[in-house]
Formats: sequence, C-alpha cells, structure tokens
Amino acid sequence: MDSGMDWHAARAALEWQVELGATDAIQDTPVNRFEAAPPAPARAQAPAAAPAAHVPEDDPIAEAEAAAAGAQDLGALKAAMAAYPHCDLRRGARNLVFADGVPGAPVMIVGEAPGRDEDREGRPFVGRAGQLLDRMLDAIGRARDADSAGHAVYITNVLPWRPPQNRTPTAQEIAMLLPFLRRHVTLARPRILVLMGNASCQALLGRSGITRLRGHWDEALGLPALPMFHPAYLLRNPQAKREAWADLLELQARLRGAG
Ligand code: URA
Repeated sequence: MDSGMDWHAARAALEWQVELGATDAIQDTPVNRFEAAPPAPARAQAPAAAPAAHVPEDDPIAEAEAAAAGAQDLGALKAAMAAYPHCDLRRGARNLVFADGVPGAPVMIVGEAPGRDEDREGRPFVGRAGQLLDRMLDAIGRARDADSAGHAVYITNVLPWRPPQNRTPTAQEIAMLLPFLRRHVTLARPRILVLMGNASCQALLGRSGITRLRGHWDEALGLPALPMFHPAYLLRNPQAKREAWADLLELQARLRGAG
C-alpha cells in the first residue's frame, strides 16, 4: 500500500508511535515477519590463531560454542555475536547490546536482557533500572565509568537482544547464548560476578528463585558469585531495597577483602 508519505515522514510517524508506547503494528492482513528472510549477518572473521572447530550442522548451541571459543578478545566476541544467526530476537532488535563499563574491572554485573532504552542506545542498563543500578553502585564507591579500574564495574546481560515486550527470556534463548556469556566472563576477567535477577542466576548457576538465592555467595564459572535483586524488581518493590543494601555491603566487604 502506498501511503504517499516519504521515508522521513514515515519514520518520524513510526518513532512518535513508539514513544507513545506502541509495540506492535497492526494491519488489515497479518504479516508473519518470522517467515521473511533476515538480513544475512556479516560473518565474523575468525582470528588466524583460532583453532578450527568441527561444528555439527543445525546445532545452534554447538555453533555458538565454536564462535565464542574462536573469539580471542572482547571485540572479536562482539563481532561473533553480531554474526550469530540463530537467535530470532535479533530480528526485532535495533541494536546488539554487548557491554558497558571497564573490561578487567573487579566486578562484572550480569543482568537479564536489554529493555527499550538499552535497545535504542546499544548499551546495557541505561533506562530507569540502570539509573537505579548506578545509584546503588555509587553508594559503595563504584561506577561503570570510574577513573580507577579498581573502582570500576563491567556490565553485560544474559541476552544481547531485547525480547519483544520485555518478556522473560526462554530457556532455549538462554541456552543458545550462554556460550557467548561464558566466553565474555573469561575475556573480561572479573574477580567477582554479581548476578542481577533470575535470568542471570538461571544462566550461570542453573537455578532461579532470587528471593532465596540473593545475598548468599555462590560460585559460577569458578568465580565467587553474588545473586541480588534486579533493580527493575526494586523499582516495583521498594521495600526490597533494604535487602539490596545489605547485599551491596556484602559485596563491598568481599571486594575490600579481595584487595
Ligand atoms: N534490565 C536488564 O536486565 N538489563 C538491562 O540492560 C536493562 C534492564
């Protein structure tokens, strides 16, 4: 259908509707966008030194493992994720949200997945939950942009693409993208992991139930891991900030002890 609008006017109208909260386009006849071929992702260049892995055909997890293992630094890992074709979330997302903060910082925070603001900016935790996270970190003298690496944090998510309507990630999505998250932790080399919310606990501890898990040190990928309430949960349940504060103090004590 030709609406008579030029490209710029059509885009402005669409962005205005998104601002108003529209999340789905409804036409006279439905369009199954999952049937449309996705744009072919550019293949990541495997570094010359990467071992050649045998990847069984049609095994998205094995493919993710091989692609992640071939990445020798964070830039290569981001490129490998951008080239990974098997997760349908990428089709509805504006940006791949990889990480923020200082790689090599002692603390690596793992959230769930980008929301609308993160999807738009391509950075994790920039919306309301992210602003609360920044205030929580500030309360213990940490920041994603700290000058001294010792006081910095590094932040990523279990999923790099926004799920539609911010729905909870499925077990299949988590399993498919977990090899990238594991490699991300290896390459970022934190001393401590903070697991924000259930998706992060499910991915890295194999368990959820944040109300029971929070505040208790666990181990993930050979590192001390502290489950905490997700800041989005704290926005909806301000009474839980008391526990979150206790967990932040616990984190601070551990970091001081770790030198
Ligand atoms: N919630 C998350 O888990 N991650 C983000 O990046 C933003 C909100």
